[in-house]
Amino acid sequence: MCGIVGAIGLKEPRGYTLRGLKTLDYRGYDSAGVAFFDNGLKIIKDVGSVEHLMDIVPNRIKSNIMIGHTRWATHGVPNKENTHPHLSNHKAICLVHNGVIENFMELKKFLLEKGYEFYGDTDSEIVANLIEYHYLENKDVLKSIKEVMDLLKGNYAFVVFTPDDTNHLYVMKKGSPLIVGKGNNFNLVASDASPMIELTNTFIELDDNEYGVLSNKDATIYNQAGEVVSKEYIHKDIEAISHDLKGYPHYMLKEIEEIEPTVERIIDTYYVDDEFQFDPNLVKSLKESDHIIFIACGTSYHASLVGGRYFEDAGQSASRFIASEWAFHPTFPGQKPFIILISQSGETADLIHCLKIIKEHNLNCLVITNTGGSTLDRNCQYSLLLHAGIEVSVASTKAYVAQTALLALLAASLNNNKRVIKDLKDALKIVRDIKNNYKPRIQAIAEELKDKTNIFYLGRGFDYFLSLEASLKLKEVSYIHSEAVPGGELKHGPIALIEEGTPVIVFITDPETASSMRGNIEEVRARGAIIYEISTKFLAKEEDNIVVNDYAYYLSSVAISSVAFYLAYYVSLAKGLNVDKPRNLAKSVTVE
Ligand code: AGP
Repeated sequence: MCGIVGAIGLKEPRGYTLRGLKTLDYRGYDSAGVAFFDNGLKIIKDVGSVEHLMDIVPNRIKSNIMIGHTRWATHGVPNKENTHPHLSNHKAICLVHNGVIENFMELKKFLLEKGYEFYGDTDSEIVANLIEYHYLENKDVLKSIKEVMDLLKGNYAFVVFTPDDTNHLYVMKKGSPLIVGKGNNFNLVASDASPMIELTNTFIELDDNEYGVLSNKDATIYNQAGEVVSKEYIHKDIEAISHDLKGYPHYMLKEIEEIEPTVERIIDTYYVDDEFQFDPNLVKSLKESDHIIFIACGTSYHASLVGGRYFEDAGQSASRFIASEWAFHPTFPGQKPFIILISQSGETADLIHCLKIIKEHNLNCLVITNTGGSTLDRNCQYSLLLHAGIEVSVASTKAYVAQTALLALLAASLNNNKRVIKDLKDALKIVRDIKNNYKPRIQAIAEELKDKTNIFYLGRGFDYFLSLEASLKLKEVSYIHSEAVPGGELKHGPIALIEEGTPVIVFITDPETASSMRGNIEEVRARGAIIYEISTKFLAKEEDNIVVNDYAYYLSSVAISSVAFYLAYYVSLAKGLNVDKPRNLAKSVTVE
């Protein structure tokens, strides 16, 4: 989703701004642009990649100020007009925006009545003109942005400047993240810290309803009441985003193959000298809680389904919620709930919304994330890092496995159940075996599936959780419609869709549910489905397509999710798609 960078006081702002936009491209975007002041205001923007922008932005730019933006279309199609930066009618205000302004129609109506015209369809252009409207009256940008903030409904991060004064850059924030990076005689701003780490490791995080002004030397931040707030500088060493494919053709493949070292690293981090290494206060809070509430989105939600079972099996009661649903109807089961947020990126807007609600209720909260220094990492009471290394491919793979492995360890630590370590190590043997010996077989299945339009995944228990993730992965990168159905639900509706030739992929690794699953297989076979069984030796039948050695079945998400990931990868490849950057998706979903 949209990414923002900005700089004031850099001698050569082009490099930082464009590299910064490239760093933020994990958020997904369809167009990109920059604005600066070099012999007058220059705005250069276009639909397409940051690489394309690099080609059209001049090599030498002398400007004290520069802002940049990658846009992921929300209001208005991806075209040049809707691409940021936006300029107001009288060319007095230039800005970039991340977020969504909910009352933009009402504000647009007001401006239309005042004679304003619009070249595009974005809510952001309306805000540029609204700030200008106030600025032309009061000649004070800071005052104008405060007045406009009082009128805006929605979530936003804005970086603003006026060509009348290139010694100041203005920022405003509500809901969408915005970080200021402090340098020696320069200040930076960006949607997250990653673009800035090449120049500084000292940051100020803006809180909601704050706004401010940056000059070369200073960063002054104000609260909603217009008072200066003394912001604490955070010093964070943040992992740089690596764009090194290390010889792999795609990040997705590289990241699937990093599952094994990732889980090994998790074990080495959270289990040292035969002891679990979790903060005793965290473990105490978890034990004392009478209900664990998991909240997450997408793949991370699928990890929470697995994690919920681990906590239940460890004697806790647990609920799992999709963040965007919970945010609109927050429920707090139990007398003493404890909340676990799961997020690879730590920047997902739906979860940030949930965190606000959690804080309003003064509840204990842990985030499990792969991104140290992210909004959730900084703002949750407890944070456990996945140490999976940066995940670049939009389709999450190693982070999902890391989330479930870490949840297995955390749940086991409540009862000091050390058996989990051996089980995890055994599960990694399966991961290795799949990587070394099963890829050609999986690729052959992918060839059979590539032209299908509907694919079903079936499973029960842990196999159902895995089916959900397998199905999401396939649809993300192959654009084939796919559904995961709990075996027992088939006859309650979905079986109507099974016809001659429909592929049905079935996981049979959970001994508690295996025989019921065999029954479901016969039901869909009788209706002409083509079955692909993925099973473990102990539960296998001769006709099964993929049979792996046995492991502790509760760790299926660790042991055999790679079968599903490779399958999705090879189908995408067979269809000639952009596997690492599927259409319409973003690595980090920063708008609700
Ligand atoms: C994963 O393959 C997806 N791209 C997506 O579902 C993702 O898991 C979801 O957006 C949640 O992201 P997060 O883990 O960064 O919060």
